[in-house]
Amino acid sequence: MRVGRAIAEELGRAGATVAVHYARSGNGARATERAIRAAGGRARIFSADLRAADAATALVHAVTAWAGRLDVLVCSAAGFDRRPFEQIDGQAWNDMLALNLEAPFRLAQAAAPELRRRRGVIVNILDVAAFHAWTGYAHYAAAKAGLAMVTRVLALELAPRVRVCGVAPGTVAFPADYPAADRARVLSRIPLRRVGRPADVAGAVRFLCGASYITGSVVMVDGGRSAGSGTDVL
Ligand SMILES: NC(=O)c1ccc[n+]([C@@H]2O[C@H](COP(=O)([O-])OP(=O)(O)OC[C@H]3O[C@@H](n4cnc5c(N)ncnc54)[C@H](OP(=O)(O)O)[C@@H]3O)[C@@H](O)[C@H]2O)c1
Repeated sequence: MRVGRAIAEELGRAGATVAVHYARSGNGARATERAIRAAGGRARIFSADLRAADAATALVHAVTAWAGRLDVLVCSAAGFDRRPFEQIDGQAWNDMLALNLEAPFRLAQAAAPELRRRRGVIVNILDVAAFHAWTGYAHYAAAKAGLAMVTRVLALELAPRVRVCGVAPGTVAFPADYPAADRARVLSRIPLRRVGRPADVAGAVRFLCGASYITGSVVMVDGGRSAGSGTDVL
């Protein structure tokens, strides 16, 4: 199980009606929907390629029309792509920024009126890479750093009615093709000496949803990886 599903199921268990978004993984989304319903919750799947210009607005409208309200917006969908700086061409840059930075921004814009009415909350899923420099991820890190700043700015702009928070995971689920040697290297840099689980991120999201005096804050869920100076993060 990866992060988006863990969050959806956690919020379903907490009693939320859950709109499960997917782009290509229809089977995974349907399995998530079934799991939430089996646990007694209410869920429905919605498909959108969030790189498309009007996709965020259409998604928020479709979800709100179905559920009748919107209290929580969790932005977890993202691309992850390792490539050297010289090989980040225009397409790779634009795709990364469109999905990882502009899409959460547009989702927040589209959801803001309803979230104001409901005194709702936005939780953006960041990454420790938003705060620490890694080689090989310039476009990914720039997008996540941008989203960290958007989180703080929106916390001010949408206050006092809407809270805006972030969760910054360290490693909680390796990409399937992540090399074994790199996995060992990552592990050696985590003070708790283990990778986290998607459920750790989901628990932080659930906590922030109920944390009525927290806004503009980012919870690091990284086993202590970012606790040091940052030079040992890679
Ligand atoms: N995994 C980790 O250890 C880790 C560490 C730090 C931060 N994070 C952050 O946590 C979040 C989830 O991570 P993950 O590893 O679970 O990610 P993942 O498995 O790669 O899932 C990313 C999600 O983004 C969606 N997506 C991809 N392209 C899309 C598009 N064009 N339009 C809309 N949605 C699209 C995918 O939907 P489909 O599958 O339906 O296409 C997928 O559900 C991300 O924001 C990631 O940056 C993860």
